[in-house]
Amino acid sequence: MAAAQEAAAPPLRQAALARGITFGAAVRSELLRADPAYAALFAREATLLVPEWEAKWEALQPREGEFTFDALTEILNFAIGHNQRLRGHALVWHEAMPAWLPPAIAEGRARAQALLENHILQVLTATRDHIRDWDVLNEPVSNPPGSDQPSATDGDLRPTPWLAALGPAYLEMALSTARQVDRTLRITLNDYAVEEDTPWAAEKRARLLRVVRRLVERRAPLDAIGIQAHLQLRNPFSPAPFIAFVRALRELGLAVMITELDVREADALPDGVAARDAAVAERVQAFVAAAIEGGARTVITWGLTDRDSWLVRQADVARRDGVTTRPLPFDDQLRPKPFRDALLRAFGG
Ligand code: XIL
Repeated sequence: MAAAQEAAAPPLRQAALARGITFGAAVRSELLRADPAYAALFAREATLLVPEWEAKWEALQPREGEFTFDALTEILNFAIGHNQRLRGHALVWHEAMPAWLPPAIAEGRARAQALLENHILQVLTATRDHIRDWDVLNEPVSNPPGSDQPSATDGDLRPTPWLAALGPAYLEMALSTARQVDRTLRITLNDYAVEEDTPWAAEKRARLLRVVRRLVERRAPLDAIGIQAHLQLRNPFSPAPFIAFVRALRELGLAVMITELDVREADALPDGVAARDAAVAERVQAFVAAAIEGGARTVITWGLTDRDSWLVRQADVARRDGVTTRPLPFDDQLRPKPFRDALLRAFGG
């Protein structure tokens, strides 16, 4: 019975496409290689794949001037074999930097600019035939007071080695370099903590809008905004301010994508797995429906299975109480959860 129901449920990719929506998920090359059931799930459910690590600086340029595309190529070959597209993530970010990079950036402006431009040039040149959509800037906006990790600044831009070496101009430098290398690439600025109904999320929405408006006014090449959507049930969500935010971005002529959706459960958990999954699903449906109402047409989850989520595997973001959290559409046995049904409902199926 359960198996028959599962087989009858349409894959997320198909249900989404029927509504003009692209569904994707972040994927890990070592699991594609080692786990056929994991690979089959991604083949079945996703139109779009995003490498969870394999296209970060640390993966692509582990030593200065030495570029390695092996892990990324593995994901790419899988995508080609399953008629899927790949998005690139991420060219300029303050995390996943190889150890050699921050001190090299700190050597000064000319050196930092050369590193930034060369990385973008080499990576986009090598991937341009297959990746048409890149997070060129990841998390450039600062976190206001009240955030989980407030930034030590009053400014709109996050203090990073790039900002320290190059000033605010590093944003345009990265975007323009990407455009010069690839005239028709979809260039995306991706950021987080702009989704929920808290004072600090409202302030971060304002900061992101100011940063983006300035870029658009200066005619910097920018096509899309990625909203990560690492949601947290400890924070309230209200559709209206979020929809207004998505619309404000769309009015600037930008596409909006949901790029890293997952859900952190509340601090005090309801009793039992069914109630927990229902709470997560309810948030997913409200959020994704709002995103679509605002004009987003791409929805990407940060993984597919609870088993493999960074929120389960990574100590600094895992629950402190030792409970294994349930943040994604499939469980640790790769069985569909209410999260998945919530996506289907939000897609309008
Ligand atoms: C995370 C990955 O999921 C982890 O496996 C890795 O160790 C750290 O990065 N925002 C991003 C993603 O843009 O790249 C992050 O991914 C999650 C937060």
